Amino acid sequence: MEKLNGKKKIKICVFISGRGTNLKSLINFSKQKKTNFEIILIVSNKKNAKGLNFAIKNNIKSLIINYKNKKKTESIILKILKKNSIELVCLAGFMKILSKKIIKKYKDRILNIHPSLLPKYKGLNTHSKVIKNKDRFTGCTVHIVNSKLDSGKIILQKKIRVLKKDNEKSLAKRLLKVENQLYPKALKKFISTNL
Ligand code: GRF
Repeated sequence: MEKLNGKKKIKICVFISGRGTNLKSLINFSKQKKTNFEIILIVSNKKNAKGLNFAIKNNIKSLIINYKNKKKTESIILKILKKNSIELVCLAGFMKILSKKIIKKYKDRILNIHPSLLPKYKGLNTHSKVIKNKDRFTGCTVHIVNSKLDSGKIILQKKIRVLKKDNEKSLAKRLLKVENQLYPKALKKFISTNL
């Protein structure tokens, strides 16, 4: 177990479903000197999620779960989180909605990144809504997960301008870079004020 200034590091599990760029940026950040947390487990509901490669590359334990039976799956997840002494969960492109049971067990200990300026555009397809509504700005939000979709307390947000030439794809691409910078910052802020 790693330590910082004699103190144990906070153990984090990241949940993913796909590409994993946010996971990658959290891993990179965790490896910087003086961070007081470590990512020790990665959970994916997709066995071929690209993000799992970052687990292999960085020697982090990973777990693939099958969400066919949500109740059963989540009780397995809870057991594994407990077994690994996980204190904080970061959702990073995890495309499943966690049940109240997990959210209650990890109350105020689950973070998520969402590609919109919440409370605007909860749920899916945020970029197409921004383009369709001709919004001048969009952004991303890191928030605490509660039992309502994309509704928990906001930790940090970053706004970007929507360009005239933007389409869904270009906007998503540009915003992703901003997301990748925002998540570690928000995690650091959350840990320093809450843990
Ligand atoms: C991000 O846009 C995130 O905001 C959303 O899902 C996407 C995940 O991307 N929840 P990645 O897998 O981290 O690259």
